[in-house]
Amino acid sequence: MEDKITRWENPPSLPPTHYVDNRIFTDSEIFSEERDGIFAATWKLVCHESELPQPGSYRALTLAGRPLIVVRGHDNEIRTFFNICPHRGAPLVRDERGTFGKRIQCFYHLWTYDLVGNCTGITRPVGYEPVGFSKEGIGLRPVRTEIIGGLVFVSIQNEVEPLEDFLGTMVDHIRLHLPDDQPLEVFHYHRSEIRCNWKLWVDNNSEQYHEFLHVLNRKTGLAQPDYHERRWHLYPNSHNVIDQGAMNYGNVGLEERSEGLMPGMQPDALLVMLLFPDIMINVRATVMRIDTITPVAPDRTIVEWRGLGLKSDSREQREIRTRHHNQVWGPAGRNLPEDISAVEAQQISMSNDAFRYSIYAREEELRPHDDSNLRSFYQEWGRRVGRWPHDAGARRSEKTELGVVGIASE
Ligand code: FES
Ligand SMILES: [Fe+2]
Repeated sequence: MEDKITRWENPPSLPPTHYVDNRIFTDSEIFSEERDGIFAATWKLVCHESELPQPGSYRALTLAGRPLIVVRGHDNEIRTFFNICPHRGAPLVRDERGTFGKRIQCFYHLWTYDLVGNCTGITRPVGYEPVGFSKEGIGLRPVRTEIIGGLVFVSIQNEVEPLEDFLGTMVDHIRLHLPDDQPLEVFHYHRSEIRCNWKLWVDNNSEQYHEFLHVLNRKTGLAQPDYHERRWHLYPNSHNVIDQGAMNYGNVGLEERSEGLMPGMQPDALLVMLLFPDIMINVRATVMRIDTITPVAPDRTIVEWRGLGLKSDSREQREIRTRHHNQVWGPAGRNLPEDISAVEAQQISMSNDAFRYSIYAREEELRPHDDSNLRSFYQEWGRRVGRWPHDAGARRSEKTELGVVGIASE
């Protein structure tokens, strides 16, 4: 019996890249390091441009603790600012979304700003004249904003590399499935706070191995003779994509998906694209789903789910897409509740050191059930956070790569 207990307490007999120390899912110090090393340091997808439909449309969000607003200007440009008034720090908006008129007005002392971020009015300016202070030169704090395939990304890190460089080859995949000449549109949005670490949701989105969990996937995908013929493609910065594979929707009594195909998709096909750190773009033949994440606490995560169709859809076509989306991915669809219950149950097991190591050891030459893309994610995580995922108590030595010797223990 002692042997069996020791096995639970010690790392598994695997290369260090092939398992993680579960404290990375529960430790609050590591959670802060992730915020600074990942979410405050790279690009974050905040919405699709169709969610800012007209001049003045805005969305408010929090990125790595910083309150931001994304606004479409009267020149149609989309810009991002801190959602903070430069006078004394009141938030400029308190709704999650809405539409400005010509101006943004702070509710506290009623200073005003245009949609480019310049201060346009200070109430009773005469009081500032003795000190030579005026609205000229005052403005909202701008935030880097770039758009690819209609996806609006922001970064609070001024020196961040250009979005195209960060995404690399994934830009081609994004442009294929979200082409500028066939614009997409968000028709479904919901969000929920789920009781797990954000990385468990990333894992769930990233792996195909857990398709065994879903009756729907067992019957539509796993049962296909060529299921294991597809391959993952891994790129720098831990972005990855898997080849399209055909599903047999008829096996579960669902209609075929051979008409009204989404850009770049084949009939009845499914593919998944993953962008570091938190984005999943999941495309079935007739509908796209995009997930993004906001970590709240080590065991609390807000997930936003979007369903997209083509902007040019007829009403009838949109109804079909909505049905196809909701059958699997809606809040009451078949897969989503199953996924959420799985990750929330994992988190419970990981609390209080009850379960110390998780295994990411599948090697199938980049076939669907290979864990390579998960290993790539945790290596990238380690590089950015400065810890070894397999030993959460150890800091990375600056000059070594993950999985190689040279761990600098604290
Ligand atoms: S804090 Fe905004 S006008 Fe004073
Ligand atoms: Fe799933």
